[in-house]
Amino acid sequence: MINSVDFTNKDQPYKTVFFETFGCQMNKLDAELSLGLLQEEGYRIVDKVDEADVILLNTCSVRQHAEDKVYSHLGALRTLKKRHPEVIVGVLGCMAQKDGEAIFKRMPHVDLVCGTRMFSRLPEMLLKIRNHGSHVLAVDEDQIVNVKRAVTYRPNYYQAFVTVMRGCDNYCSYCIVPYVRGREISRTISDIKEEVQSLVSNGCKEVTLLGQNINSYGKNLGGNITLGDLLSELNDVDGLDRIRFVTSHPADMSHDIIRTISRLGKVCEYLHMPAQSGSDEVLKRMRRGYKAGYYRDLISYARELIPRLTVASDFIVGFPGETDEDFQQTVRLMEDIRFQNCFIFKYSPRTGTKAADLADDVPDEIKRARNMKLLELQKRISLEENKKMMGKEVQVLVEGASKSDPNRLSGRTRQNHIVVFNGSQDLVGKLVDVTINEVTDLTLFGKIFK
Ligand code: 5AD
Ligand code: SF4
Repeated sequence: MINSVDFTNKDQPYKTVFFETFGCQMNKLDAELSLGLLQEEGYRIVDKVDEADVILLNTCSVRQHAEDKVYSHLGALRTLKKRHPEVIVGVLGCMAQKDGEAIFKRMPHVDLVCGTRMFSRLPEMLLKIRNHGSHVLAVDEDQIVNVKRAVTYRPNYYQAFVTVMRGCDNYCSYCIVPYVRGREISRTISDIKEEVQSLVSNGCKEVTLLGQNINSYGKNLGGNITLGDLLSELNDVDGLDRIRFVTSHPADMSHDIIRTISRLGKVCEYLHMPAQSGSDEVLKRMRRGYKAGYYRDLISYARELIPRLTVASDFIVGFPGETDEDFQQTVRLMEDIRFQNCFIFKYSPRTGTKAADLADDVPDEIKRARNMKLLELQKRISLEENKKMMGKEVQVLVEGASKSDPNRLSGRTRQNHIVVFNGSQDLVGKLVDVTINEVTDLTLFGKIFK
């Protein structure tokens, strides 16, 4: 645990940092905040490990595969650390929170293990390691994360993620998040609004509000404050064009919030609201707190009020006890709802969660086959839905050169479709109208409409 060390020695010999992030958008934002902090301390960010004085891996624990990747990266750093013992190697984020001390035992060349609520103290921890040559373990769960945002360190100036709440109190039976990210804590509306205003005055056009369970925003603030109140306040920020928010939990998504979204012009017509399964039996064992019928009704209500709404979902296949019939119900839900996009995962047991007590009894080849089946189904639905966009005019926020064709531009519609079209670089960060003339399952192609 970090303790009373003299951190006044600011004579900083470490100047370059290599930073790699795994996992969700919340992790990416934590990376951004950490790097902003380190830059203010005089660090230069490098993109090669062998140019770095400090190597930091910001980790994810959501599935075993995510952890295996980090451990293999750490293993590969052993030789570098032998050659350059002065280089600091740190593990941050969810896996650091979960495995704590055990990381030092498994990977003795690691100097720093810093959990999900401690990264605002990175500069002083690095100084401690340098001054004392000792390991630092910082995994205090009760800390409130309070990082002053360096608006200057952002991947691009026209978009930003903004954390509105941290942690999760839902305890879905398969999920490690409440154990690694702690209890739900919401930031106040005034804090968030101030941050958004400062982002907008630095050129930001679109904010994506982040929370592991964003529909329960405000619960710990008192005074019946809801996500709807926050969205209404942010809708009034001059100069801001678009507001997105993720991730929605169906059980906490009220009709009231849907009504609020439908009347706020800046809130985009896109919901990422994971269903996880279409089977009531499986949903019950997952402790999701709703049935498939409730999910269907919620989407119908939202689509009635917000006609252009697109919906994305996550699904887990091969959850303990998932039968063929359970799986067919998931297939039917996907066919009926017609999501814009789905993220599909094979169940991965996480030690410490409730589901880890259930036998992981669906064989891996069946998990793989179900995963493939849902991916193929979603691909077909995405293509059919995208074809309906042919000839339509859509508003696009231009994000930069297209990854597949650097001579063209790429951006997103309000409904979160990716659109590729010809145009000059000076359009980056601007809103343009594009007419769609070609589609694939993943991308819309078009021409700027004049
Ligand atoms: N195994 C597989 N997928 C999981 N997810 C969360 N926990 C697990 C797990 N133990 C998926 C859920 C969640 C997404 C972020 O990751 O679908 O919505
Ligand atoms: Fe992974 Fe969940 Fe942590 Fe995000 S919050 S990095 S998904 S474990």
